[in-house]
Amino acid sequence: MLNHHKEDTIESVLKEKRIIHPPSTFSANARIKSFQDYEKLYQESISDSENFWGNLAEKELHWFNKWDRVLEWDPPHAKWFLNGKLNITYNCIDRHLTSSRRNKPAIVWEGEPGDSRTLTYEELHVEVCKFANVLKQLKVTKGDCVAIYMPMIPEAIIAMLACARIGSVHTVIFGGFSAESLKDRLKDSQAKILVTADGGFRKDKIISLKSQVDIALKNNSSIVEKVVVVKRTSESIAMEHGRDYWLHDLQQDISDNCPPEIMDSEDALFILYTSGSTGKPKGVVHTIGGYSLYTHITTKWIFDIQDTDTYWCTADIGWITGHSYGVYGPLSNGATSLFYEGVPRPSNPGCFWDIIERYKVNIFYTAPTAIRSFIKMGDDIPKKFNLSSLRLLGTVGEPINPEVWMWYYEIIGNEKCPIVDTWWQTETGGVMITSLPGAISSKPGSASLPFPGIVPDIVDKNGDNVPDNTGGLLIIKNPWPSMLRNIHGDRQRFEENYWNSLSKKSDEHIYFSGDSARRDSDGYFWILGRTDDVMNISGHRLGSMELESALVSHQAVNEASVVGKPHEIKGEDIYAFVTLNNGFEATNELISELKQHVVQEIGAIARPGTIQFTRELPKTRSGKIVRRFLRQIAANQNIKGDRSTIVNPDILDELKEQAQLHN
Ligand code: PRX
Repeated sequence: MLNHHKEDTIESVLKEKRIIHPPSTFSANARIKSFQDYEKLYQESISDSENFWGNLAEKELHWFNKWDRVLEWDPPHAKWFLNGKLNITYNCIDRHLTSSRRNKPAIVWEGEPGDSRTLTYEELHVEVCKFANVLKQLKVTKGDCVAIYMPMIPEAIIAMLACARIGSVHTVIFGGFSAESLKDRLKDSQAKILVTADGGFRKDKIISLKSQVDIALKNNSSIVEKVVVVKRTSESIAMEHGRDYWLHDLQQDISDNCPPEIMDSEDALFILYTSGSTGKPKGVVHTIGGYSLYTHITTKWIFDIQDTDTYWCTADIGWITGHSYGVYGPLSNGATSLFYEGVPRPSNPGCFWDIIERYKVNIFYTAPTAIRSFIKMGDDIPKKFNLSSLRLLGTVGEPINPEVWMWYYEIIGNEKCPIVDTWWQTETGGVMITSLPGAISSKPGSASLPFPGIVPDIVDKNGDNVPDNTGGLLIIKNPWPSMLRNIHGDRQRFEENYWNSLSKKSDEHIYFSGDSARRDSDGYFWILGRTDDVMNISGHRLGSMELESALVSHQAVNEASVVGKPHEIKGEDIYAFVTLNNGFEATNELISELKQHVVQEIGAIARPGTIQFTRELPKTRSGKIVRRFLRQIAANQNIKGDRSTIVNPDILDELKEQAQLHN
């Protein structure tokens, strides 16, 4: 199977002709039942978009006070549902308590060691209120930032909701990030409180989160005031007097009554850091009203969740997918959302299928990189399990190769489950391009068509339209409710990065996604990848410059240039070209040391696959490193393009020759 996948180059995507129609039984029961229904909805959504979003907001959400206006668009700044008052936790929890959902599981959770917990909506309400009161007791008030650095345990979700309940802004920092990354994000967000755990279980090991926290906060008393620690692993950890508190101590005798704070639609809900093309990750800011509506309605229509469904999104809550489609979207719909602490590992390669069988999961949403690793492990593993409860599959995070799509469809979905390939980003807050499972036929490898209300287009670098079937830049032409509102503390970067990137038409204010794509003659979008220096490693975004800064911070490194290299499981892998300072020798030991150094600086997801030493890097006259050539070398391709732009063209052949040793 993987042999097919290796040949899945862009050409094979271009040749892909298969069309898979939604099963008629699925369509009959779906919310959006036919292509005609989709087309009608789409037309309505763009012919009078404010009316469309206004009607949905009124029908789908609870507001303490209705808004005065649906949209104020002062490009590139948008305000949605002006002066509307709401609380996302009221929509995610309280409103379900007056119906039969009160005793329905909201969260079903399983730990890696096999322990488990279920929280009904009523129980979730109690836990969120208690946690919210702990935050209040620690003097967290509306608008304060609270950082969450946690394993995938129920308290992580409860902490997010508790922040939203009292109007504080959460910033979830993925538990796999190192102390250094944690420190940067804590500083940038100015978080007042940090919520963490003694540790978590991952790949049969204990991840010592608290020790990373201690390193991050060492000699940095100005970063966070207090640390709340959840007991998970019971490992012995250091607790700093006056700074660190156990959650269970703080919760003694705490009230479980905490009315939701009345929030303005445009108040911030969270900051989430993501990599861009500069060295510093960007704190993407999302606000409450628009995000609540968009995550709610996309979950409802794309995942077609019914009240009896058990839904599982495998993303960690440290990423936007975990925020929008693990926590907020499903809970707002009153769904049962499943969370798993662990990941497939050699001792339990079938754990995902085992969970699907035992919990009778109906809707399963994961990333192509995970599917590719399942293919590699062999069909025997999933075939041992009863996966017949599944009725819908989803994928997100990177382009899915048509053959990988077909495997997912045949082996996991038994040819009866539609697959939704959902294209979106941290910045977009919710899914922008996707199929709707009962209404839109899928073409394996294509994210399909725009969600109602979204107007994507493909243009060249001047902003001019390109013909169908030609690759170009993927842009969005109109504002949408869950669009990012800002980069935390950097309004200029927000304006320049996303809205003013196209030289000629900068006055048009279109959203520039950073991806390239093509549209076929049926209007289907095929995402080709990033156009900037952002890599997608196993569905995780990492910036070249971020990695280069990490490498250069090692005493042996003089200069570094990092590119993505195609990888059969990860999609892309990190390939670093490095020049050394005088007195350092290019040894295998140094390679290992540098790899470990990057892990320490950023986290395990950033471990470079390859480090190639070189005496020089290819540079332009103005001293700019030309990554274009390095990408070709890393991919083991012939060097193409105009060499006259660089001052030291001879280095290219030398690099290519040495690269053979690494490939
Ligand atoms: O390149 C696109 C890719 O992931 C990027 C966004 O990454 P992030 O902000 O971390 O969010 C990931 C989860 C939403 C995009 O710019 N991407 C995301 N979904 C797809 C995709 N590429 C192809 N197909 C997708 N379905």
